[in-house]
Amino acid sequence: MKFLFKPKSIAVIGASAKPGKIGYEIMDNILSYGFKGELYPINLKEIEILGKKCYKSVADVPGEIDLAVISIPAKYVPAVFEGCGKKGVKSAAIVTSGFGEVGDHETENRLVEIAEKYNMPFIGPNIFGIVYAPNNINASFGPADVKPGKLAFITQSGALGIALMGWTITNKIGLSSIVSIGNKAQIGESELLENFLKDDPNTKAILLYVEGLIDGRQSMKTFKEVGLKKPIIALKSGRSKRGAAAAASHTGSLAGADNIYSAAFKQSGVLRAIDASEAFDWARCITNNPRPKGKNAVIITNGGGVGVMATDACEDNDLDLYNDQEKLKELFFKPEIMPPFGSTKNPVDITGGGGELAYKKAIEAAYNAKEIHSIVVLYCQTATTNPDLLADYIIEVVKKNGGKKPFVIANIGGEAVETMIDKLNENDISAYDLPEKAISSLSALYRWSEFIDRNEKQGKTKPLKLPIPQIKAIIDNIRKEGRIQMLEHESKQIFKLIGLNVPPFALAQTVDEAQKFAQEVGYPVVMKIVSEDIIHKSDAGGVVVGPKNAREVDEAFNKILTNAKNYKADANIRGVFISHMVPKATEVIVGVTRDPTFGPVVMFGLGGIFVEIMKDVVFRVAPFPKEEARHMINEIKSKPMLYGARGTKPADIDALVDTIYIISQLVSQVDDIKELDINPLFALEKGASAVDARITLTEKSYPSN
Ligand code: COA
Repeated sequence: MKFLFKPKSIAVIGASAKPGKIGYEIMDNILSYGFKGELYPINLKEIEILGKKCYKSVADVPGEIDLAVISIPAKYVPAVFEGCGKKGVKSAAIVTSGFGEVGDHETENRLVEIAEKYNMPFIGPNIFGIVYAPNNINASFGPADVKPGKLAFITQSGALGIALMGWTITNKIGLSSIVSIGNKAQIGESELLENFLKDDPNTKAILLYVEGLIDGRQSMKTFKEVGLKKPIIALKSGRSKRGAAAAASHTGSLAGADNIYSAAFKQSGVLRAIDASEAFDWARCITNNPRPKGKNAVIITNGGGVGVMATDACEDNDLDLYNDQEKLKELFFKPEIMPPFGSTKNPVDITGGGGELAYKKAIEAAYNAKEIHSIVVLYCQTATTNPDLLADYIIEVVKKNGGKKPFVIANIGGEAVETMIDKLNENDISAYDLPEKAISSLSALYRWSEFIDRNEKQGKTKPLKLPIPQIKAIIDNIRKEGRIQMLEHESKQIFKLIGLNVPPFALAQTVDEAQKFAQEVGYPVVMKIVSEDIIHKSDAGGVVVGPKNAREVDEAFNKILTNAKNYKADANIRGVFISHMVPKATEVIVGVTRDPTFGPVVMFGLGGIFVEIMKDVVFRVAPFPKEEARHMINEIKSKPMLYGARGTKPADIDALVDTIYIISQLVSQVDDIKELDINPLFALEKGASAVDARITLTEKSYPSN
């Protein structure tokens, strides 16, 4: 892939002498960005373009071609691309639109075949090009003057990518590269990350704009691998249902359910930003700063109000403020830093009269204190300070201490402050116009760092040993009957096999059996009709809750059978399911769905209104380590209900963790399971009990993993 990023020779096929045409702008950008290698414009009529000799085809070019940028109408592309292959062109960027995104997958696939035949990797089609600042490559028709820096920006959307390219220039964000991947026919984000950006010394962080991933699992693997080396920020559009539909038609990619994307990003260490401005704010902090060595942050401010705003933001973002009052006093309560009425409670308030020198001294003190791990500076414009001079002081002190610990600054004020922000950013110091942005960006850096810590602790997940042959035997029997919907006793048999706790149950054919089993499972009992023809058992009058003696079991048994026959005369009735009735407890749900992009996904939430109205649920792509199951529980908003809120007894969290984890293992090892619901799972003081169960099989049968 190095030829894409570091070509020594470029051919622009479809180069034009007419300003405003894409073929002209690409040529112009390549030249004005200072490309030092050979540049060959390919045009059927022209003799020279922008001072470069033209060739009618790549075959006529005397030298080797490392990169061909193709910008001619779609119908000519396959033949020209084949010509590139024959010439031995090493890589290509196909700018032309009009392939997979408008439904012509056949021609797009043909391009992939050609690329594979000639071992000629290509990005596109339907892209605006590629930029690699360290080697002065701007083979794109975006803005010419990209600011060199350490952030690689990969974008699936072309127009938005170009717009954001311009935006980075205005906002002084330095980029190592910009790659437009368009239809991702051969090269997508995973390939770029794995084969180039992961090990590129000029790239410190990566920002992805994605509309959809093609192979979610593979992408997660790559993100994780790369994310352990450098932070990845994702901007994923299509959060709303309408947005997702628009994305699908835009580049023809599959957009999985958005909360599943969020889960997948989180699991693979990708920092998901809500919008472009947040993404670039984070990128600014992440590319400029080292990984923090600890959790203690200090805020240095000249304004109390803005300090409180920052403190609130720290709480919202789980950022810890250093709190050793003695030490803070020792570090900052000095005449050169603050007047006697200043405050050393973190935020450290040097007060409105605090000048440039006071800031400098305070920042130096924070850099020199080993107890402090990251520094947040807030500056409200006052008449007692000169923003330009303050910027110079900050640049000096941060550069001198550079790399020791993360540093962010928020400057609030008028025009002079805007200039100050620009100056700081030009000098690779992460400066923002609001404290919330500075804090949110610093916390993104912390989240990445925590991902690495967490990953080191968790290690590799070994598959749990499950009795797969027995599980498969149950599934095969169901399939033999032409069913994909498991009956409750079948689902619960599987649960028992994998070690989940289910209330004791049995299937009775006669009243005598029902009475015997009721005795065995223990009164009171729950009795339910078992028939594949009666899915909504309660509607059919097929459920009786609470019989507590033999007589009531007799009555319930007959009532259930009569109701079932009345409901559906020809229903295939397999008997009556009898189970011990578990006393009421906090109800939670563990569910599984199979996502087309990510495969099996496990959901956890509290039952009842929490799931139905509040949608207070979390997802994880299976399988995942046990610790991840604990994070799931701690992520739901209604978690206090499980930890003993409002006088309730705390639930056995370990048992919930085990259940979620075992289910994630089951669905990862048994591909036949399409959907699964334990609803409710009773969260007991000791243990957890799968009270109701529903498993649906896939249409297609799978061999065991
Ligand atoms: N070999 C060499 N030159 C060729 C050629 C060939 N086989 N076929 C055409 N050309 C020349 C043309 O003569 C023309 O040169 P000229 O300006 O001197 O006349 C030039 O290549 C471009 O061809 P033209 O037919 O004028 O096409 P165009 O410039 O109007 O459009 C694309 C070409 C690729 C820009 C257009 O088809 C396209 O796909 N546009 C969308 C691109 C896009 O938006 N991509 C996504 C980014 S977000």
